[in-house]
Amino acid sequence: MVEIAPSILSADFARLGEEIAAAERGGAGLIHVDVMDGHYVPNLTIGPVVLKSLRRTTTLPLDCHLMITNPDDYLEAFANAGADMISVHVEAATHLHRTVTTIRQLGCKAGAVLNPATPLVALEEILPFVDYVLLMSVNPGFGGQSFIETALDKVTRLRDMISSHSLDVTIEIDGGVDLENIAAVVRHGAQWIVAGSAVFGKGDPEAATRALRQQALQPLSV
Ligand code: DX5
Ligand code: ZN
Repeated sequence: MVEIAPSILSADFARLGEEIAAAERGGAGLIHVDVMDGHYVPNLTIGPVVLKSLRRTTTLPLDCHLMITNPDDYLEAFANAGADMISVHVEAATHLHRTVTTIRQLGCKAGAVLNPATPLVALEEILPFVDYVLLMSVNPGFGGQSFIETALDKVTRLRDMISSHSLDVTIEIDGGVDLENIAAVVRHGAQWIVAGSAVFGKGDPEAATRALRQQALQPLSV
């Protein structure tokens, strides 16, 4: 199932509730929340307090992408604030198996995230323990960057890796996805498609989400 996951990083932070409602009307399947700590990535965003307020504005699953060091210290806070999905970077989690197990024990879907330069082999031992893998198609830290084309082949290789192990793991992709490349991203096997500036940078998030969704579903209908 292909879903559009608007990233609120590019939204108007003074009107987050309205921005999310517009994306929801446009057919968003989840809301992607980028959490940055100024250590793991060179940017600062939001934490559990804001997430808790967002939880009251939407029934869509809240997909928390933690770009922070020591993610274990904050899992419970994000789960209590209303996260439905929590993903952590394999590069930031020292004891990844413990981390994803804790996420599941907290009642959330657990995701492992790979940076563009991290090879798929880093997933080999953890794949049976996660619900989804988030492949970064930009270097994490900022919205509005260009899609790194080699991510397409990486999606296909991950899809093969998942099916060769007969696992039920969803592939999410994040960074630089727009109307031009979303069909290719889906054709290569991505299922949850994060889009920040392509949704919130155009002035009409509802129409932008709808257009992305149409483009994304096209390859599946032929
Ligand atoms: C980058 C974030 C992305 C970002 C995507 O670190 O993880 O979720 O908001 O934004 P766009 O779609 O503009 O690349
Ligand atoms: Zn993200």
